[in-house]
Amino acid sequence: MKKFFLKTFGCQMNKSDSERIAGVLLHAGLDPVPEPQQADVLIFNTCCVRKHAEDRLLGNVNSLKRLKNKKRKVIIAIGGCFAQKQKEEVFTLMPHVDLVFGTHNISHLPRLISAAQKNSHKVCEILESCDALPHKLPVKRDSKFFGWVPVSIGCNNFCSYCVVPYVRGREVSLPLEQIKVDVGKFVSHGGKEITLLGQNVNSYGRDFYGESRFDQLLKELGSVEGLERIRFTTSHPKDLNDRIIDAISIQSKICEHVHLPIQAGSDRVLKLMNRGYSGSDYLQIVEKIREKIPECSLSTDIMVGFPGEREEDFERTLDMVDEVRFEQAFTFIYSPREGTPALNLPDQVPEASKKERFLRLVELQDKITWEINKSLVGRRFKVLTEGIAKKDKQMLFGRTRTGKVVNFPASDISIGTTVEVRIVKALKKSLLGEVC
Ligand code: 5AD
Ligand code: SF4
Repeated sequence: MKKFFLKTFGCQMNKSDSERIAGVLLHAGLDPVPEPQQADVLIFNTCCVRKHAEDRLLGNVNSLKRLKNKKRKVIIAIGGCFAQKQKEEVFTLMPHVDLVFGTHNISHLPRLISAAQKNSHKVCEILESCDALPHKLPVKRDSKFFGWVPVSIGCNNFCSYCVVPYVRGREVSLPLEQIKVDVGKFVSHGGKEITLLGQNVNSYGRDFYGESRFDQLLKELGSVEGLERIRFTTSHPKDLNDRIIDAISIQSKICEHVHLPIQAGSDRVLKLMNRGYSGSDYLQIVEKIREKIPECSLSTDIMVGFPGEREEDFERTLDMVDEVRFEQAFTFIYSPREGTPALNLPDQVPEASKKERFLRLVELQDKITWEINKSLVGRRFKVLTEGIAKKDKQMLFGRTRTGKVVNFPASDISIGTTVEVRIVKALKKSLLGEVC
């Protein structure tokens, strides 16, 4: 039996796609292995959202090229967003790669691998639209308890810096009934928590119904017997309507956490980014969320150094961070991407200014996260146990409904169990607790 090793770069959608890649390959009779040295086929599911992601990929694949030798035929396959963007050019960038496949043709992978094994020439297949939506493919989940559930693929928003609409195609929603069936199946096998995935979950169903039905999806999944928690990401501020906020506030299974990328604070920059909202629109949404869901935590994505961002624009970003007080922020330095409109904008920000702004932003957010964490000491939370703590093997870790990571000492609690935990200490990025 042929063996495959699969490594995933990038976002949760890629992790979810990798579970489909593994499902398709298992179905075709291939066997997964944990180490590249054991594999006949090495598959990299890649990201290209920033240059840094591409550099990491190149480093990783290059370090494995020595596995190819005369004794054994090893196939190196590159899939995902980087493959979709670069197509045949991958072979020039990484000459030891044998197979390139896109984001839309996971279902063809067994055939493509066979072709690459049989032929001495390289194989590249990139489709421009989806051949089989995720729900049509077999899935090999990484966890029995925590499941990724794609609700839509692609993106129609064309933020001017972002390569995703070009590599993932237009937004296509998965049928609501099918999502319910899949979630039901997951729960019947012991699943506890799902995370609904889409580049913009808030516009779920617009392609089917002409308007978003994300609120309906949330409500219907909220009634799936046995499911404990529903998470969802990513929310786009321009499409987060009142019906969705109401659904989150009413349905007890939906976690009180919204990941709401703000990207920037200045209206001028938001406009250049083509985000479709202003700073005050964003603050209004935050106000509504906090009014209707008082315990709700907010996390965000923020970018610094977008072309044309001046010092005063950047200060608006800092003001926003100060005002909203996000529990967590994923912070990025703008990375120019081929094919995106922002690449050709005037006034690109010098690298030194980008770095300096980035450090100021990170410092402010770290201070806020630290203050929020300290304010939670002494409080009790329901924590759904996810696994053994990363830094201390004697501890377990889990998440509160608001998405906070809590580490706690326990030996007799199994993964997938919800426990009540009292917070005893705040750490910079997480919390330390004890089981009540
Ligand atoms: N440069 C830097 N960050 C980017 N993101 C998307 N495209 C770029 C880019 N070209 C960030 C955005 C998005 C997150 C997933 O990645 O903040 O929300
Ligand atoms: Fe990219 Fe914007 Fe779509 Fe998110 S919403 S994937 S940032 S284009």
